[in-house]
Amino acid sequence: MPTPLPVFSPSAALSAEEIEQLQAEVRALRHERDAFILAHNYQLPEIQDIADYVGDSLELSRIAVSDKRPVIVFCGVHFMAETAAIFSPEKQVLIPDLGAGCSLADSITPEQLRAWKAQHPNAVVVMYVNTTAEVKAETDYCVTSSNAVEVVEHIFREHGPDTEVLFGPDMFLGSYVAKKTGRSLRVWAGECHVHAGIRPDDLNAKRAQMPEAELLVHPECGCSTSVMEYIASGDTSAENTHMLSTGGMMRRPAETDADAFIVATETGILHRLQQENPGKQFVAANPKAVCGYMKMITLPKLRDCLRDIKYEVTVDPVIAERARRPIERMLAIGK
Ligand code: 13P
Ligand code: SF4
Repeated sequence: MPTPLPVFSPSAALSAEEIEQLQAEVRALRHERDAFILAHNYQLPEIQDIADYVGDSLELSRIAVSDKRPVIVFCGVHFMAETAAIFSPEKQVLIPDLGAGCSLADSITPEQLRAWKAQHPNAVVVMYVNTTAEVKAETDYCVTSSNAVEVVEHIFREHGPDTEVLFGPDMFLGSYVAKKTGRSLRVWAGECHVHAGIRPDDLNAKRAQMPEAELLVHPECGCSTSVMEYIASGDTSAENTHMLSTGGMMRRPAETDADAFIVATETGILHRLQQENPGKQFVAANPKAVCGYMKMITLPKLRDCLRDIKYEVTVDPVIAERARRPIERMLAIGK
């Protein structure tokens, strides 16, 4: 049964005093537990501000492996905490709310993937990291939005031009990668409900208002195929348009003289973009693009998680062993 989609209620918002008080408690508990707090770029501002490290999926996977502290608190969604647990079975990996799932990860089950593989027994299986550990265990290569093109190019170089590739679960990312590499891929029809909801019309309305702005577009977006078409037809310039992971979006403002940006991804990223680039303007392509799962992680839950050592995320060792391989292959290739 698909996980019901949570709706973020602004009534959950805390006052400035409450935030200060809770952050002080989190700081003390973090020290007491010798814990490392990781936060995804979509987390609430007050969570990002207290984290030891804020980043995209790939950056968070790498740093979780390299840090030596015995406790990792993952302020993100469940598959991200699972990835940390796969690589650090000796550490305690905690998530402040076990219900923080992902509609994209839910869009393919291990049974569905096994059935797809049975129909294409010679295919190489490429799955986005937004998948469960059990799905990763059935996968040959994982990818994130920042390295999917590079990994798929590597597969065709290594396995030959006629390689059959099963790519999932995100159809917008799959179609972007197919266009970018010029390769034919079999793409699973899954999507992230937040990014799929950022439509070409949203982007066009913002482009009309801010014609000089750069477009920063996450390849999971429902508008990503149209953006590729705009570039191909010359309707928007390639220099002005960037298909990026959230980490790539964070780096872009420092690489350009542009001072206005239309940002097509989950709106949580605007906090850090604005904080790190105070002279520049960032506007959401669709202000309703809010991931209710990401926003399930709140400061009171983070405090409780550190205080009560809950909720621990573990992965069955046999599944973890198999799930590690596609991620290691990706980390060996990807930027
Ligand atoms: P990245 O941070 O890797 O770009 O991923 C976006 C996302 O949707 C994570 O859930
Ligand atoms: Fe999953 Fe989409 Fe939320 Fe990312 S934004 S965690 S892909 S539901």
